[in-house]
Amino acid sequence: MNNFNRRWLSLVRDKMKDNATIWISGSMHNIFSIGQILNELGFKILNVITWEKTNPPPNFSCRYFTYSTEQIIWARKCEKVPHYYNYELMKQLNGDKQMKDVWKLPAIAPWEKSCGKHPTQKPLSVLTRLILASTKPDAWILDPFTGSSTTGIAANLANRRFLGVDQEIDFLNISKNRKFEIENKNIAASFRQKIGGFNEKKELELFLFQEPKTEYKTELNF
Ligand SMILES: C[S@@+](CC[C@H](N)C(=O)[O-])C[C@H]1O[C@@H](n2cnc3c(N)ncnc32)[C@H](O)[C@@H]1O
Repeated sequence: MNNFNRRWLSLVRDKMKDNATIWISGSMHNIFSIGQILNELGFKILNVITWEKTNPPPNFSCRYFTYSTEQIIWARKCEKVPHYYNYELMKQLNGDKQMKDVWKLPAIAPWEKSCGKHPTQKPLSVLTRLILASTKPDAWILDPFTGSSTTGIAANLANRRFLGVDQEIDFLNISKNRKFEIENKNIAASFRQKIGGFNEKKELELFLFQEPKTEYKTELNF
């Protein structure tokens, strides 16, 4: 496990801008290895978010506590290069108090599975929050284990660009269908209003409307 994590994290690190950050969700089986390798490769761990599911499924074996949380590590590429954090928006989403590292958000809703089933599909609410916290409009976001591309859908709904990689063609087909689905502007608008974690229905759209847009400059590299 350590070797696999070292290999993919090195490959991803090479592609990151120096001020970029990485978010990694993992089960208890691999999150400790991830933490160790991040330190080894020179990343700086910024937070470990605990996503507390408000509606977890019961533990049928009755031999363990109910699994109701997932850990998500947030780290930046370089020890010394500052990262971006939208402190003000996160505070706004938390009733005008500093956003904590425990996020109470529901597990995935049925409307998010309209294009097929992925066994570990994440909710858009979690991905949208972490994207808005750590990126600016038009940012490039990479998910090397993209599955049904919740990261990409959240990125595109929030006016960010996206590249996803997966080894399973079936999951990439779900991803493509999800992307086609949000090319319909009405569907995209309704999704923006349904994503959880906001104080009111229109808050995400209003925030995106007000976000400063990037001015493109032409850059030629020879
Ligand atoms: C936890 S799932 C991602 C789920 C995704 N966040 C979503 O919301 O749909 C991890 C994905 O990584 C893919 N995967 C596992 N090993 C891989 C590898 N070596 N290269 C590319 N993809 C891989 C699996 O096919 C799976 O779809």
